[in-house]
Amino acid sequence: MAFLQIANIETLYFDRIYALHGLTLDIKEKEIFAVLGPNGAGKTTLLKTIAGLLKDQPKKGSIEFDGHRIHRLPPEKVSSLGIVYVPEDRGLFRELTVRENLELGCWGRHDKGIKDDLDFIYDLFPILKERTQQQSETLSGGEQQMLAIARAILRRPRLLMLDEPSLGLAPLVARTVYDALVKISELGTTILLVEQNAKLALKIAHYGYILEAGRIVLKGTAAELKENEDVQELYLGMGGQTVSPKGWRLYKKRRRW
Ligand SMILES: Nc1ncnc2c1ncn2[C@@H]1O[C@H](COP(=O)(O)OP(=O)(O)OP(=O)(O)O)[C@@H](O)[C@H]1O
Ligand SMILES: [Mg+2]
Repeated sequence: MAFLQIANIETLYFDRIYALHGLTLDIKEKEIFAVLGPNGAGKTTLLKTIAGLLKDQPKKGSIEFDGHRIHRLPPEKVSSLGIVYVPEDRGLFRELTVRENLELGCWGRHDKGIKDDLDFIYDLFPILKERTQQQSETLSGGEQQMLAIARAILRRPRLLMLDEPSLGLAPLVARTVYDALVKISELGTTILLVEQNAKLALKIAHYGYILEAGRIVLKGTAAELKENEDVQELYLGMGGQTVSPKGWRLYKKRRRW
């Protein structure tokens, strides 16, 4: 059975704007899944729907996590099952220091594993150790993403969901963040990431989904997606074309999915 099983969900804004149309997706435990898609495809909406952040959504369909029905549960119930969401804006307490943000990640924990988790985090992101007293809003974009991931790890996620972790980062910093995700996955955490940067995401993902206008239009192993001509052309910037609005319109007329 799938670890996360999403069946035919429909999510609407204001009861009339469809953001997800009958979306179905299965995730296996301990793997890395990437959901790729252009602006407005519904990537953020998907993560927010899973996390329970959109009240009374999904309107239709079901979401099961490790055998528990989680659709339309409040966000604190969803997170208590081990689903941790790192939003696109990182969700840090900007006026608090690095240390204080990490302490908040430990909220509710009384176990002896905290020290080991901190050692793991500082090993992943040594820069955070040098910055413990620094106010988080003064960190660079990359350091803020690292802190957001570090704080998420302290919550011992079983499913870690990340919204565009590479957004706005220089290539080298994005690589550091992605290398860290691989190490987190190796410890047994299941990862669901949404990205516009398909190249980067498919480097580490085992499996990928392409989301367009609220529907999954293609799925496959990362290797299959990398070989798919449409994916190459549209998402991997191969074939000499870039994704301009005009390109999209032309493409939509003849697309193969
Ligand atoms: N709060 C909201 N109210 C109304 N419509 C919304 C709201 N949030 C998103 N939408 C709409 O839902 C659709 C999906 O948006 P979503 O933010 O999920 O896309 P996305 O794939 O994350 O895009 P991006 O790559 O730009 O982050 C879009 O058409 C968007 O305009
Ligand atoms: Mg988004």
